[in-house]
Amino acid sequence: MESSLAALLATALAEIPTAADEAALEELRLKYLGKKGSLTAISAGMRDVPPDRKAAVGAALNETRTGITAALDARKAEQIAAKDAKEAEGIDLTLPGRPVAPGALHPLTQVLDRAVGILRRMGFALATGPEVETEWHCFDALNTPADHPARHESDTFYFDSGHLLRTHTSSVQVRTMQTQTPPLRIIAPGSAFRRDEIDATHLSAFTQLEGLYVAENVSLGQLKGTLEAFFRALFGDTTEVRFRPHFFPFTEPSYEVDVKLSPKGQAPRWVEILGCGMVDPAVFQAICDARGDDVYHPDKVTGFAFGMGLERLAMIQWGIPDIRHLIENDVRFLGQFV
Ligand code: PHE
Repeated sequence: MESSLAALLATALAEIPTAADEAALEELRLKYLGKKGSLTAISAGMRDVPPDRKAAVGAALNETRTGITAALDARKAEQIAAKDAKEAEGIDLTLPGRPVAPGALHPLTQVLDRAVGILRRMGFALATGPEVETEWHCFDALNTPADHPARHESDTFYFDSGHLLRTHTSSVQVRTMQTQTPPLRIIAPGSAFRRDEIDATHLSAFTQLEGLYVAENVSLGQLKGTLEAFFRALFGDTTEVRFRPHFFPFTEPSYEVDVKLSPKGQAPRWVEILGCGMVDPAVFQAICDARGDDVYHPDKVTGFAFGMGLERLAMIQWGIPDIRHLIENDVRFLGQFV
């Protein structure tokens, strides 16, 4: 039996390296090691081996199996290597790889995230409202009468239903006061729409960040301190901020806030960035009427509100000269904010 094992191993070792492909190799595996293969046939002879020889013959049997298995594995590895080499033919492995361009957040998203982060740390919670609004939420509740120019058809996108695309995020002030009771401290980032001619500083669809704080005894000093702290956190500790008296129907007194810019090689200049003021008592009264209670009664609460253009913030942050860059999706521009 041992001699037939040796003969089998010799034949197998001669034959296996000649297997042309995977199928041929599998055929040989079955021929030698399969259930009906040669090795199985020979091992049937174990029955007739005398007990004192069984161990030695068993060992020879194992050796033969191991030898054949190793040869099969080796041939398989050769076949795989040959296949790989064939696939790689004509490919120059020394060429540099194709670079993968990393993605990045849009500059507008980056300022939004930073601004929201700063205000949230100051205690403002996020609020939202719809972009398609009623005239009441956008104007009437905000003390903006029917003959106000902002309501003119040439300034605002109206639907036939009487709804409109909100011209500012201040409508979210109204919606939040309708559903929540004071004290209230919210910010509401979102899109706003106006029938503006598009130019270097105007878009017809842009982004605002609204803020509202209502409680007992909220003061103008708190509004000023909050905004100054906000701009210093955003643009740096030495940022200069200026409050100019202004008019908004829904705040009294009202201000526009400018931030001082000192572009390299240019004279410093003030850039208008935000509107704000103390919530007008008429707004609180409209909210009371709508709610049917008096938790927002102007004798009980005061508040401040502000609204800023996020595109402006981004333009100041990076010295972007034209607002249209922010919507053109030109990677030569966007690639600079990675
Ligand atoms: N809604 C005003 C605008 O769009 C900004 C503003 C918000 C002013 C809140 C005062 C208070 O111009």
